[in-house]
Amino acid sequence: MANNLLQGKKGIIFGALDEKSIAWKVAERCHEEGAQIVLTNAPVALRFGQINELAAKLNAEIIMADATSVEDMENLFKRSMEIFGGKADFVLHSIGMSLNVRKGRSYTDLNYDFMLKTFDISAVSFHKMMQTIWKLDAINDWGSILALTYIAAQRVFPDYSEMAESKALLESFGRSFGYHFGTTKKVRVNTISQSPTMTTAGSGVKGFSDFFGYADKMSPLGNAPAEACADYCVTMFSDLTRFVTMQNLFHDGGFSNMGMSPALIEVQE
Ligand SMILES: NC(=O)c1ccc[n+]([C@@H]2O[C@H](COP(=O)([O-])OP(=O)(O)OC[C@H]3O[C@@H](n4cnc5c(N)ncnc54)[C@H](O)[C@@H]3O)[C@@H](O)[C@H]2O)c1
Repeated sequence: MANNLLQGKKGIIFGALDEKSIAWKVAERCHEEGAQIVLTNAPVALRFGQINELAAKLNAEIIMADATSVEDMENLFKRSMEIFGGKADFVLHSIGMSLNVRKGRSYTDLNYDFMLKTFDISAVSFHKMMQTIWKLDAINDWGSILALTYIAAQRVFPDYSEMAESKALLESFGRSFGYHFGTTKKVRVNTISQSPTMTTAGSGVKGFSDFFGYADKMSPLGNAPAEACADYCVTMFSDLTRFVTMQNLFHDGGFSNMGMSPALIEVQE
């Protein structure tokens, strides 16, 4: 159901790879709510993903950018401002990738070159994105910047490996830059901590489907689906949440505040 919550707003969305991607759903919902969108992803995603289909459907431009490259970031925001004829109103960072997980290295045997690359892709890219926006003055007053994260930043989920530290770093960048953006530009910065979701990045984690079922049972409302995450992102980009900033917002069906759930205990008599 569309309510024109983003009528006249312009947004840049990172990370739509295929129709399972959370960013894909967010882009669709933002478009439905009246926003003009620019889509961006790593050049490799053009070959493996379906971003062209989404762009055609939303009448959106695609500007490829490797989020670890400051040069690509600068090009992305400069060209987006040309396309928009002005600054952006919102930006979504929806990027995550672990080299050690991908290469099957356990947490007690991490390769540190891989680890640094993981941090660069999954967390430092958020700082690079914000610093580029800051320096180019690429976002309007009362704009909104969001990144997606996961509760492994606060609690131990062993198979999430070095992505836990990536997410802790990402959330911290959100708080720290949120201060500067708030005081100087009236822009808010938040992270949304999403339930496990069946996507390419999500299902790369070992034992993901068992874990997905566990989290679903542990959460009083069940796992939050990608479509509901998109709804939440829309509210965070809208003018209805202008004073929410520097927060890590759990969008997880209640999982983060649970201790024990009878739904997970088999009664043995
Ligand atoms: N799926 C889950 O269970 C889950 C749960 C909580 C949070 N998240 C987070 O949601 C975000 C989106 O992930 P998703 O689950 O939609 O998976 P996804 O695989 O669809 O999205 C990840 C995206 O990151 C992009 N990417 C990778 N390297 C990049 C680079 N160098 N430059 C630019 N883009 C790059 C990929 O091309 C892809 O589009 C991630 O931050 C992820 O950690 C996912």
